[in-house]
Amino acid sequence: MKALITSGGRGTRLRPLTHTQNKHLISIANKPILHYAIEYCADAGIKEIGIVHSADSNAIPKAIGNGSKWGVQITYIPQEAPLGLAHVVKISQDFIGDEPFVFYLGDNMVVGGLKRFIEAFESNKSNCHLTLAKVKDPERFGVPEIAGSRIVGIEEKPSKPKSNFAVSGIYLYDKTIFEAVNNIKPSARGELEISDAHQYLLDKGYKVTFSEITGWWKDTGKPYDLLEANRLILDNMSGSNEGGIDEKSIVTGKLKLGKGSKIINSNVRGPVIIGKNTVIENSYIGPFTSIYDDCHIKNSEVEFSILLEKCKIIDVHIRIEHSLLGSDVEIVKAEGKPATHRFLIGDQSRVELL
Ligand code: G1P
Repeated sequence: MKALITSGGRGTRLRPLTHTQNKHLISIANKPILHYAIEYCADAGIKEIGIVHSADSNAIPKAIGNGSKWGVQITYIPQEAPLGLAHVVKISQDFIGDEPFVFYLGDNMVVGGLKRFIEAFESNKSNCHLTLAKVKDPERFGVPEIAGSRIVGIEEKPSKPKSNFAVSGIYLYDKTIFEAVNNIKPSARGELEISDAHQYLLDKGYKVTFSEITGWWKDTGKPYDLLEANRLILDNMSGSNEGGIDEKSIVTGKLKLGKGSKIINSNVRGPVIIGKNTVIENSYIGPFTSIYDDCHIKNSEVEFSILLEKCKIIDVHIRIEHSLLGSDVEIVKAEGKPATHRFLIGDQSRVELL
């Protein structure tokens, strides 16, 4: 079994964080989104992974490398233009060969990994095994029509969805998928749609099965959706301590504290993850918060938030909650007169004040 992972797309929905980096490299619970996909594949025993990336950027190969740190071999497959997910599969035929494979959309996260889906695919002897998740807004996804225990049709982003399931971005295929992607035609938006490839398999009588999944996340709307992915991951994380917690601090719930980090005279209520060389002083850190490396939080309160590396929150006397801070962001008390709020904010940032 091989794996094929996508890492393209403009990430417009996650601006401003994606102004400076590919969305697959944004960290959730202190780990880039794409690492989760690679880890899930490695945990499932997959050794050969193809990562499809935009041909106009080398950011993904540069950040991810050859896969040795996960014990896998990564092959990079450049895609010249974003011509659809079925096109991604089509251009990867040489890499996949005749082997079965997991097709994993790199901006999807699923708690619990891939093993159970691979087992279902193999024991059902399926040509294609899909993973379905119940959603409130199926019209944003590929949507199956289900009769009894069988999928009988699939539509891409239908205005009148025939079920409340979304086809998630984790698919298992055998080589018949190549027959499908080589025979379908581009959709109205000019892309080879993966849902059309699935419909092709159904029309030809190939075996399409499915598993229902929970704990699935994908960026569908606002950047604040990242907080939901963060919550999912932290909820399932186990605690550990490689840093230092002084006697005056109170830690309740799960805390994962990285090397060189210190918690001084503070109250931490997990689940919380704190990276390396971060200092938390005289502060409160509340549930579902991820704070990355080299941050400094002093005399402040942060809850249900993501802070990327090198953030500073110093002497802020309001609680920062439900917030996303990119790298190197500072929120500090304004000194001097007049007493005003002062902002230096990049493009497409957002500040909400009382
Ligand atoms: C793509 C697929 C869609 C699927 C979704 C899952 O949509 O076309 O069928 O439900 O991924 O992540 P996109 O993210 O390209 O809108």
